[in-house]
Formats: sequence, structure tokens, C-alpha cells
Amino acid sequence: MLEKVAPHRLRGQSIIWSQDFDCGLLKDIFDRADKLPRGRRNSALRNKRVILLFYEVSTRTRFSFEAAVDDLGGTRLDTENASILSSVAKGETLEDSIRVIASYGDAIILRHQEDTAAMRARDILQSNNIWVPVINAGCGGVGGQHPTQSLLDLYTIKKEISRTEGLTVAMVGDLKHGRTVRSLAYLLGKFPGNQIHFIAPWELMIGNDIIAYLKRHKVDVTLGTDLGKVVESVDIVYMTRVQKERFSDPAAYERLKGSYRLTVSLAERMRPEARIMHPLPKVDEIDPAVDLLPQAAYFRQADNGLQIRKALLEMILGE
Ligand code: CP
Repeated sequence: MLEKVAPHRLRGQSIIWSQDFDCGLLKDIFDRADKLPRGRRNSALRNKRVILLFYEVSTRTRFSFEAAVDDLGGTRLDTENASILSSVAKGETLEDSIRVIASYGDAIILRHQEDTAAMRARDILQSNNIWVPVINAGCGGVGGQHPTQSLLDLYTIKKEISRTEGLTVAMVGDLKHGRTVRSLAYLLGKFPGNQIHFIAPWELMIGNDIIAYLKRHKVDVTLGTDLGKVVESVDIVYMTRVQKERFSDPAAYERLKGSYRLTVSLAERMRPEARIMHPLPKVDEIDPAVDLLPQAAYFRQADNGLQIRKALLEMILGE
């Protein structure tokens, strides 16, 4: 039987940027995710149709949102390569597509290559008095964000380390193009006592806007190129892939793609209770032998995506 819950303040709201969450809202989402029975279905989204509009490839985000809609008893319209399989191929603008598609469903989950796509989608709907929430499922690169990934990342940290404050986190790899890194940095900035070491080749270093935000929020930030210098002191190593698809210069990608590789010998220098995370997909920045270490949390992290996305959809659309 469906548990009776009062409508949440997220009801009908779009999810565009991580910095829009506050600590109370994060707690509500995590509590809800904890309470949702794993592997059990309910009918929270009965009579609701969710549209998944993906202009970029995805495995985890798309399948976990699809599974979440199914588990909550909703229906869905789904396009996994909207740039080719929708009328964008004929030259239709994102704004026109969104206005039309919104009339077919109750929420739009959008992945797109442009940083501001989700915001533009929300804004075109609201300016036409169409109150269909838009969920950013990963938009853009250099200035982009992936707020639902950051929710499952922080939820994973809470489950694995038992806290979200007083953490020391090393974020490693392609931080320039890393929308998951940007979104998680915004969330870490909301809790006291957190420290972030950004470890990247200088050409792929985190943007100044994130550093400025973190400093405003009293997060201790260091920038460097050597994971070995901090690996023994951290609670979390958050590895990321060098994102080939974001490079305009193939030679630059070839030069930078092998910048980091987390080996077993490096990972074994981490404290036993520390954890290795990765938003996935991973390519060769983590030695597959690391997967067997107890510190490797990235597959549990991906698994947490379903619970978080179910909680989010229930709070936004649930009856
Ligand atoms: N982490 C993540 O966004 O993975 P997908 O690209 O497979 O959705």
C-alpha cells in the first residue's frame, strides 16, 4: 500500500542547479531515499507520464530514471538520441521542442550538451505559463551541471562515511569539463568543515567560479597535480574520466588522456575507511584491480542512483 505523505515543497519544482538545494532539502531527499523499499513498487506516479529527452548518450542516468518511473507506477515517453531521433534533426530549436513535448507529459528529464539547456527549458515553459517541471539530467561541460548525480554522490558519501561535514575530498582528473564535479562541489560547500583538493593537469583544472563559491562558503580549497601528495589524508578520492567528447583539439586529448591512473599500490595508501568514488563511465583512470578493494564504492554509488531518483520523482510528482 502507498505510504501517505504530505506534498513536499519540491512538488512541481524543477531541478536545474545543485546550489539551489539547501541542507534541509538534502536531508528530506536522503531520508526519503532511505525509506523507499528497495526492489518494491508503489503507485506514487499513477496517472503521471514522464518524458525522458536525452540529446547525449547515457547509461546510468537514463536507465535509473526509467527504472524509477516504472517502480513508482508511472508511464514514460523516451528518446535516447534526441539530436538524431527527434525533430531537432530538422532544425527545431530546443525551446520549440520543449514547448510541444511538455503538453504530452507531467515532467521532462533533460540531458543536453549545452550548459544552460535545462534552465532554458524551464524558462520557456514558465514564461508561457506551462507548469511542467524540468529535471537536469546532466547538461553541458565547462559550465555545466548534473545535479541529480551530485545528490546520489553526496548520499553515497553519507552512507559510506556516515557524515557530510568535516570531510576531506580529492577530486581528480578532468575537472574543467566535469559537470558532476561542479555539482558535487556546490553541495559540499553547504556543509561546515569540508576541504577539497582539486587534482588535475593545469589545463583541466576546476573553474574559478567554483573556487570563488567554495571560498565564499568557507571551504578549504587546494589546487595541485599530484594525487600521491594527498591520498593518505583524504576521506574520498573522486576520480573522473578525461572527457574526449568535450575536446575540440584531438591532440590535446591524446596528450592529457593518461594524466591519472589510480593503481592498487596508490589506492592501498588510502586509509581503510576512506572511499574511492567515480560518477562512471570510467575508461582507464582506475586500474580494474582496484574494483576489488573495499574502498572502491563506485558501483554502490551507481546503485544509489535509483533510490535517489525515485525519491526525487516521488517528491516532485507524487500524489
Ligand atoms: N554518471 C552518469 O551521468 O552516467 P551516464 O552518462 O551513464 O548517465
